[in-house]
Amino acid sequence: MSGSQPMIAASEITKHYGRLEVLKGVSLGVERGQVKVVVGPSGSGKSTLLRCLALLEPIESGSIVLDGEDVAWQARGGRGERSLVPFRSQLCMVFQHFNLFPHLTALENVMIGPVHVRGVDRKEARDEAMALLARVRLGDKAERYPHELSGGQQQRVAIARALALRPKVMLFDEPTSALDPELVREVIDVMEELARDGMTMIVVSHEMRFAHEAADAIVMMDEGRIIEEAPPDRFFRDPTHERTRRFLQLAEL
Ligand SMILES: Nc1ncnc2c1ncn2[C@@H]1O[C@H](COP(=O)(O)OP(=O)(O)OP(=O)(O)O)[C@@H](O)[C@H]1O
Ligand SMILES: [Mg+2]
Repeated sequence: MSGSQPMIAASEITKHYGRLEVLKGVSLGVERGQVKVVVGPSGSGKSTLLRCLALLEPIESGSIVLDGEDVAWQARGGRGERSLVPFRSQLCMVFQHFNLFPHLTALENVMIGPVHVRGVDRKEARDEAMALLARVRLGDKAERYPHELSGGQQQRVAIARALALRPKVMLFDEPTSALDPELVREVIDVMEELARDGMTMIVVSHEMRFAHEAADAIVMMDEGRIIEEAPPDRFFRDPTHERTRRFLQLAEL
């Protein structure tokens, strides 16, 4: 496969909730190992876009191609939800509110995907999960339950749990915005390391330091459209759109 082929490419996707048109023809491509950060005002459709890309929501039109395979889930028109199961684990989403299983330890939270989705045996899944917990710097917290961990630690378990599925693309929806400021850095550090290691990532985030340091491009959404995409330097220094300028000023980024 050619190196320039996008790992994930959305083309002209549209999405309504009832009569509200939330995505009005959004196209976004991310090459293998690239990181794109999505910003934009509240309600502009950022989370909806990620959920559609993660195949958690059907789109109405357009296409989503993952590593060369058309995976778009269109509520009407052929493809049913069942046929998406093999693709879902290739597109892992990390949410603002961690969504760990409260009755499982950190280790069990990370093991559960490989055991149930990939059919890995428990011994192997355990070794892998321990290695992943070490990678997110939680090797000493394997036996802790979520309520025994800080928010930053829980989010790092959630990242390890996503990594355990060996996704092709990781999607982050404001992964640090539920965290106390002093815990943000430890999660961002892990994300920056993932980016350096070549993970393909789409990240909705207000963490501009992360955007500056890790992003190949910043994508600005407004009212269900991508209105601008540029490398971080240019995006922050010299945005093309008046709307982006206003957003950057108001956001005091
Ligand atoms: N499940 C849903 N049902 C109906 N409307 C929805 C649903 N999810 C989102 N919306 C609407 O779609 C629009 C886009 O929402 P979305 O959550 O994608 O925005 P966002 O850019 O992520 O905003 P924020 O920055 O506040 O997280 C909003 O008007 C929202 O109210
Ligand atoms: Mg959102």
